[in-house]
Amino acid sequence: MSDLIKQMRAFADHCGCPARRVFDDLFALLYNYICTGKQEYNKLYPAVFFDPQSVQAVEGYREEDRHQLMELLLVLRAELDDAAPFEDVVTDKYGALLPGDLGQFMTPTAVSTAVSRFLGAAEPSATKRTEPTCGTGALVMGDLQHSYAVAGKDGISRIDYTINDLDPRLVRIATVQVMYHSIRHEAPLKRLTAYNADLIKNYDSTPPFFVANSWRGALPSS
Ligand SMILES: C[S@@+](CC[C@H](N)C(=O)[O-])C[C@H]1O[C@@H](n2cnc3c(N)ncnc32)[C@H](O)[C@@H]1O
Repeated sequence: MSDLIKQMRAFADHCGCPARRVFDDLFALLYNYICTGKQEYNKLYPAVFFDPQSVQAVEGYREEDRHQLMELLLVLRAELDDAAPFEDVVTDKYGALLPGDLGQFMTPTAVSTAVSRFLGAAEPSATKRTEPTCGTGALVMGDLQHSYAVAGKDGISRIDYTINDLDPRLVRIATVQVMYHSIRHEAPLKRLTAYNADLIKNYDSTPPFFVANSWRGALPSS
C-alpha cells in the first residue's frame, strides 16, 4: 500500500470519516485551485470556464486537523509532480478506497495502459475523444500518456477531450488529473470539457462543469 494511502487511512480514522472522503477533499482542493488560479497558467489555457457550483469549500475538519490535511495535500502533489507525463498515479489508490457501493470500480492502471496502446495503435490520429463515464480518468490518462509517448506535445495539442461522470467527485478527480499533468508538463490539450451529467436522464441538457481551451481551442480557425 502506498505511503499516501496509509497516511490517508490513519488521518481518516483520526477524524472519524471514510478515507474516500479525505481523498475526495484533497482533489476538491486541487480542483478549486485549478479553477481559481487560472491566471497562473493562462499562457497554456487562455479561456477557462467552470460552473461556480462545482467549486465547493472543504469543510467539517477540526481546526487542529486542517494542518495535517494540508500535509497530505503536499504528499499528493509530490506524487503527481514525480509522475511521468500523464501517468495515472491516482486511480489504483482511489480504487483501493472504494467501498463497493454504487457499483463503482475503476479500471486498474495496468489495464488502461494496455487498452490505450491497443486503441492508440488502431486510431492514432483521432483528435476528438470522449469518455462518457470517466470515473477517475483511468482510460483518459492511459490514452493521453500513450498519445504523449507517440506524438509528443504537438499530438496532445490537437486533442479535444470530453469527459463525463454522474458523480461530481469523480469529475473533479479526472479533471484535476488531466489539467495537473497538462500544466506541469506544459502540454495543453486543444480543449478539455468536463460534464457531470446522467447519461440516461440528461445527457443533452446539462451545462459543462469545467472547460479549458488552449490557444488552439480558443482560435476559431483551429
Ligand atoms: C465501472 S466505473 C468505470 C470508470 C472508468 N471508465 C474506468 O474505466 O475506470 C463506471 C462509472 O460510470 C459512472 N456512471 C454510472 N452510471 C452513469 C450514468 N447514468 N451517467 C453517467 N455516468 C455514470 C459511475 O459513476 C462510474 O464512475
